[in-house]
Amino acid sequence: MGNPIHFTVIENNSKHEIQTYVGEYRNLMCLIIDKFYFDCFGECGGMGRCATCVIKISGLSGNSIRKERNEPATLSKMGLEDANIRLSCQLLITQDLDSTKIEILV
Ligand code: FES
Repeated sequence: MGNPIHFTVIENNSKHEIQTYVGEYRNLMCLIIDKFYFDCFGECGGMGRCATCVIKISGLSGNSIRKERNEPATLSKMGLEDANIRLSCQLLITQDLDSTKIEILV
């Protein structure tokens, strides 16, 4: 198990302190599904196409700041151009997430 990664998830106005580590989940979407039992979250299975895994994140650092692959196109199709609005399936569980605040928007 690697160094712990801590962040706060806000879901339906309630705050949850999450601790994880590199490799525990494939990406942030998988963590959210596992911890919060959402039915319709992440419908495309992490391809970056469905935008059912949208979050707002503050305090992100490192390479994760850049939107890559399908993420910029999928978000802008929905009119979501804000740098803090992201597809959680495209965010890997790394130290870049440490100390962030993540709001679930879908
Ligand atoms: S799971 Fe479909 S875009 Fe993230």
